[in-house]
Amino acid sequence: MAGIASRIADLRTKLNDHNFRYYVLDDPVISDSQYDELLRELQSLEEAHPKLITPDSPSQRVGASPLSAFGSITHRQPMLSLANAMNTDELVAFMDRIKKGLDTEENVEMIAEPKLDGLGVELVYENGLFIHGSTRGDGFTGEDITQNLKTIGAIPLSLRTEDRESPDLLEVRGEVFMTLSGFKKLNEERQAEGLPTFANPRNAAAGSLRQLDSAITATRPLRIYCYESGEISGPSFGTHIDFLNALKEWGFPVSPESSIVESTSDMIDFHARLESKRNDLPYEIDGTVFKVNRTDQRNALGIRSRSPRWAIAGKFKAQQVTTLVNDIIPSLGRTGAVTPVAHLEPVNVGGVVVTHATLHNQDEIDRKDVRIGDTVWIQRAGDVIPEVVKVVIEKRPKSASPYQLPSECPACGHDVYRPEGEAVARCQNLSCPAQVKGRITHFVSKTALDVEGFGEKLVNQLVEKKLIQTVDDIFKLTYDDLVNLERMADKSAHNILSAIGEAKQTTFARFIYALGIRNVGAHLSKVLEKSFSGDIEKFMSASTEDLEAIDEVGPIVAETITRFWSDCTNVDVVESCLSLGIQFETVEGPKSQILEGKTIVFTGALTQFSRNEAKDMAEAHGGRASGSVSKKTDFLVAGPGAGSKLKKAEDLGITILSEEDFLELIS
Ligand code: IVH
Repeated sequence: MAGIASRIADLRTKLNDHNFRYYVLDDPVISDSQYDELLRELQSLEEAHPKLITPDSPSQRVGASPLSAFGSITHRQPMLSLANAMNTDELVAFMDRIKKGLDTEENVEMIAEPKLDGLGVELVYENGLFIHGSTRGDGFTGEDITQNLKTIGAIPLSLRTEDRESPDLLEVRGEVFMTLSGFKKLNEERQAEGLPTFANPRNAAAGSLRQLDSAITATRPLRIYCYESGEISGPSFGTHIDFLNALKEWGFPVSPESSIVESTSDMIDFHARLESKRNDLPYEIDGTVFKVNRTDQRNALGIRSRSPRWAIAGKFKAQQVTTLVNDIIPSLGRTGAVTPVAHLEPVNVGGVVVTHATLHNQDEIDRKDVRIGDTVWIQRAGDVIPEVVKVVIEKRPKSASPYQLPSECPACGHDVYRPEGEAVARCQNLSCPAQVKGRITHFVSKTALDVEGFGEKLVNQLVEKKLIQTVDDIFKLTYDDLVNLERMADKSAHNILSAIGEAKQTTFARFIYALGIRNVGAHLSKVLEKSFSGDIEKFMSASTEDLEAIDEVGPIVAETITRFWSDCTNVDVVESCLSLGIQFETVEGPKSQILEGKTIVFTGALTQFSRNEAKDMAEAHGGRASGSVSKKTDFLVAGPGAGSKLKKAEDLGITILSEEDFLELIS
C-alpha cells in the first residue's frame, strides 16, 4: 500500500510538472501520448484505491455529474471592465491623465498586455487548493462554473509551491479562450456532424464554458492566460510585474507578450507592433491593455464606477475592408448543405488576401440584400472564414438584381429541399458526389452500422479510387479491392471484410439512422422502428399523414422523410443494401409497462450498467430517461458520487433508488 501511495504521489508530481512545463513554460519535454499514459496509470491506481484520491489529483479534472443549472458566486471584489482608447490620440490622452492624476511630469511605468478575446473568469484558491471559479457576470455576481474550469488543463488544481509559498486566500483573474487551430478543428467536427458551427473562437469558448455537462467542456480546446488578482491574503506586490511573475511560479499561464513600457511613445510602438503581429498569434486578440505597473500609483489613481483609472484597452482597427462581389456561387458542404459563396475581387484584409466570403444561406443574402456586382464590406478575424458584413448601396450598379439560390444541387443536379423554418437548403441525394465521403463515414460510424476499423482514411481512399460511390457499395467490396490499397495488410483487409459482414446484421433503427436523413437522429430512428415494427418497405412508402400520426414526428420531419424517399436514387440505394444482405433483428416490444409514463433520472457514477444501457432499460419498460431533475421526475437512480441532482431530488421529495433497487423494480 505504501508503495502504491508513493507511486500515486510520484505520478501526480510528474503530471503537474509536465502541465507546468507545457502551459506555463511553453517547453514540454514529453509527448501528449506519453502524458496520457502517465494519467491512465494514475487513474487505474486510483480506481483500485479510491481512498487515495485527492481533490487536486490530475485525474479529478473530469467526471463530475452534469448540473441542472449553474449556481451563482458573488465576487469578493467586483470584476471591473476597461475603458477603451480607439486611436493613438486617446492613448496619449490616457497617459496625460495618469500623469496629471499622479501630479508628475515623469514617465509612469506601464505594463502592456494583449487584450485577449475570450471570457473573463475568476479562480479562487484556499490554502493552495482550487475551490471554485466563476464567470464575470455583471461584475458583482457571476455563474459558478467550477466543474467546467477544472477540465481546463492550463488551470492548476493546486498551487505550485516550489518557488513561492501559497497564501491562505488567492483570487486570480484571467481570460479563457480557444486557440484558432482548436476552434477550426471543433467547427470542422461540428460541420461533419451536421451541428451548427460557432461564429468565432470567443463564442465557441463561451458556449463551452456554459455547458451544464463538464464532460462536454472537457472535449473543448480551452486555454487561459491570467492577468489580475482579486483578494489575496498575506503577500502584497509592489508592482504588477512582480504579481505576474508570482502567478507563473504558482503555475498560472501568463501571456508571453506582456512587457514593460516606459513612455507614451513606447506605448504607441508596442501597440503598433502587437497589431502587426495580431494575425500570427495562435489565438485572437483585439487590442493592447495598458496598466500602471506600481501598486501605490494604482491606489492613488483609484477607480471610476466600473473601470480603473489606471488601465485602458487600446483597440485595434477593425479588420474590415470593401471589395467587389464578382459572382455568387452555391457550394455544397459534406452534409449536403448548400452555402452561397461570394467570389470577390481579391483584397488584403489584415495581411491576408481574401478571395471568397461566405454568405451563409438565402436568408442572410436576403437580409443583407447582397447582389452580384455589389461593393461590400468584408471582415475577417484571424483564421475564421471571411464574411460579408454589408453592402455599400450607393455603389450598386443599376443592372444588379436580387440573388436567388438555384433549386438544384450544384454537385448532382437533384432537387434541394429547405424545410420550413430552417435557414439552410440541403441536397438529400444519397449518391451526391460532393457528400459521398461524409455520408459513408457516417454510415459506418459507431452509432450507425458500427463497422469496426472503417475510419475516415479508408473512406477517403476508397472514394478517391472510385471503389465506393454510394453507401451500398461498401457491401460489394472484395478482398482484392482492399488489399491493393496503400498500407493495407492482408490481415486488415480480412478484418474489414468480416466487420462489414457482421455489420449487415443490424437493426432497423441503426440502418435508418445510418442513412443520415435530415432530422432523423438516433432517437427518432428508434421511434420509427417501433411504429413500423421494423418493416422498412412500410416506412419507405409511408405518406406524410402516416408519419405525422406518429408521436414525436412533426410536419417538418414527415415532409423531410417523404421527400427523401421521393428521390428514386435513395430508394435504389436502400434496396441494393437489402439485396446485398442487410438484415434487421426482429424488433422487441416493450418488456413490461411497469415504468409507463414515468420519468427516470440516472446520476452519479453508475457501476451496474452504463448510462446508455440504463436509458434502454427504462424505455424497454415503458419509461423515459431524462437528464435533469424537476417536479416531473418520478425516480432518481443514484450511483456512487451523486451530487447536486441527488440533493435536488431529495429537496423535491422524489423517490430515490439505488442501482440495485432499479434492477429489482424492472425485474
Ligand atoms: S484586466 C481591472 N487584462 O477585457 C481591469 N482584462 O473590457 C479588468 N481582458 O473583463 C481586467 N485581456 O475579460 C485585463 N490583459 C487583460 C485582458 C483583459 C482581456 C478582458 C477582461 C475584462 C475585459 C474588459
